[in-house]
Amino acid sequence: MSPTVSLRPLQITDAEAIARMGNNPLIAGFMRDVFPHPYTLENAIAFINNVKDTTPTRVFAIVANGEHVGCCGIFPKDDVYRMNAEVGYWLGQEYWGKGIATQATKLLAEYGFDTLGMNRIYASVFAPNKASGRVLEKAGFVYEGTQRQSVYKNGEYLDELFYSLLRKG
Ligand SMILES: CC(C)(COP(=O)(O)OP(=O)(O)OC[C@H]1O[C@@H](n2cnc3c(N)ncnc32)[C@H](O)[C@@H]1OP(=O)(O)O)[C@@H](O)C(=O)NCCC(=O)NCCS
Repeated sequence: MSPTVSLRPLQITDAEAIARMGNNPLIAGFMRDVFPHPYTLENAIAFINNVKDTTPTRVFAIVANGEHVGCCGIFPKDDVYRMNAEVGYWLGQEYWGKGIATQATKLLAEYGFDTLGMNRIYASVFAPNKASGRVLEKAGFVYEGTQRQSVYKNGEYLDELFYSLLRKG
């Protein structure tokens, strides 16, 4: 049975769990370089302090069956892109493969449309990250296209795939 998933704002007491779960090259390898590796407790504290008082909330703890299992965020753009928001997510490796990220992404999209008033929610995925592309498809996002070799990660050029969900599909 799939776990019950909810999102809540981050608290400073989440730092230890974030540092423990986030300190994983299999996670960092699919994230932008702002996600550190190794991921220290100091990194987690600085991250939480940077995001915890933002209103409206942009970064959330992902909670599955009452347990903090990862983080996700939604980031509205500006200027003519101001009705768009980008989403991102990661989970501790022990929680992969249970449908949690798919549920979290659906909740983030709902928040983006209903609370933030966005028109388009999108995500970008490094091409080798098949699990994340699948998460977005399962959450109803549509593949839009690929930016060739736009990512330079760990010494390699990677294609970046874009997916989006519109308020009125
Ligand atoms: C990507 C990530 C968030 C997925 O979380 P998750 O909770 O395991 O995702 P879900 O269980 O909701 O769905 C994963 C889907 O990918 C599929 N999948 C997993 N590995 C795969 C692979 N190598 N190739 C193809 N499909 C794969 C799963 O089978 C599942 O699809 P299914 O339900 O049709 O079987 C998690 O793996 C993660 O944190 N990865 C590292 C960080 C990251 O990549 N973040 C996203 C950056 S864009």
